Amino acid sequence: MKIKSVFAREIIDSRGNPTIEVDIKTEGGGFGRASSPSGASRGLHEATELRDGGPRFSGKGVLRAVDNVNKAIGPAIYEMEASPQEDIDQKMIELDGTKNKEKLGGNAIVAVSMANLKAAASTKKMALYDFLGGEKLPIPLLNIINGGKHAGNGLSIQEFMVIPAKSPSFSEGLRAACEIYRTLNDKLVKKYGRTSRNVGDEGGFAPPMSRTTEALDAISESIEECGYAANAGIGLDAAASSFYRESDGKYFMDGKYMEKGELIDYYGELLRAYKILSIEDPLFEEDFEGFAEFTRRYGEKVQVVGDDLVVTNPERVKKAIEMNAMNALLLKVNQIGTVTEARKAAELAMEAGMEVVVSHRSGETDDTFIADFSVGIGATQIKSGAPARGERTCKYNRLLRIEEKLGKHYSQVW
Ligand code: PGA
Ligand code: ZN
Repeated sequence: MKIKSVFAREIIDSRGNPTIEVDIKTEGGGFGRASSPSGASRGLHEATELRDGGPRFSGKGVLRAVDNVNKAIGPAIYEMEASPQEDIDQKMIELDGTKNKEKLGGNAIVAVSMANLKAAASTKKMALYDFLGGEKLPIPLLNIINGGKHAGNGLSIQEFMVIPAKSPSFSEGLRAACEIYRTLNDKLVKKYGRTSRNVGDEGGFAPPMSRTTEALDAISESIEECGYAANAGIGLDAAASSFYRESDGKYFMDGKYMEKGELIDYYGELLRAYKILSIEDPLFEEDFEGFAEFTRRYGEKVQVVGDDLVVTNPERVKKAIEMNAMNALLLKVNQIGTVTEARKAAELAMEAGMEVVVSHRSGETDDTFIADFSVGIGATQIKSGAPARGERTCKYNRLLRIEEKLGKHYSQVW
């Protein structure tokens, strides 16, 4: 299955920013199309997103990245076998030659990497999840109240998610989450007025709240009212780097600055008061020791997820494993830039007994790659925002179609 054409174009993402989409055709009629998502609360150590600068799209154009695919990467992988994926990814890593993929652009490289994997599956006339060998559906983590950098309210914590952990199947879990989401809508409108049903970048409501407990109360009540108290719990992504002040190491939480120790204690109170099943990036992204302390204190009863901490980078994942700094990995292929490296990060985590949560970005496209990928690599969870906004729902809807094929095999974590 030789690669016969590689073509990149500029498209737009869910925030109206440009991003790169790549089409790959193989000998034998294989075709793969993939696009790069884009984060707002990006980790410090992520692969570089190459942007044009200048007046187009306020500097965010990706025509240089497009050119890098059409004029450098394309010719380099032309006539190579689309499978094994490692060879294609290795070729691009060498061609780029930098640590953070800044020469060709992580956005250019990741779009080619994902398109190639799809093209390889398509050449074999297989669905991507099946090509990778998946058998189970992941538990969805649905972000139903947005704060932090994803919304214009006063919530420090970026994501408040509902987790239908004990539903009988993915489709039943999704249904529970949708019912909870709609109930939450009504509750928020009643209490905070009509503006509270405005949604943030990931489709969650962005009510005018400023205290963490307000969001947790609203979600807990909605879960209960819908009759899912036994099946569903709450997940948080603090994305704490976005409310961390480096000058003095303090965190701005609920209207005041807290010391690290105070913040960790505060999380403990929240864990006691609410049914929180998972918490991501509770502390600043460079603070491996802090994460280790957090995991030591709470890791028995809550899933501690590393996102900005490890940025899907196998080296950083190794360090987190050695230090016991988390018990679950957030996996975003575009953080590291190739499918192969992302799979390596997932493998390391799984070997260490950690859960893997495959994730979208706050800037997304209609690409459903992560739905297939989550099933294919055996991740137990997927995070793709609220059950709202097409760029979020397309992933969940893709998983419904996969469930038709695989049957109701649902992951179990809690
Ligand atoms: P981002 O946020 O895509 O804006 O970086 C998602 C996350 O932090 O998980
Ligand atoms: Zn995160």
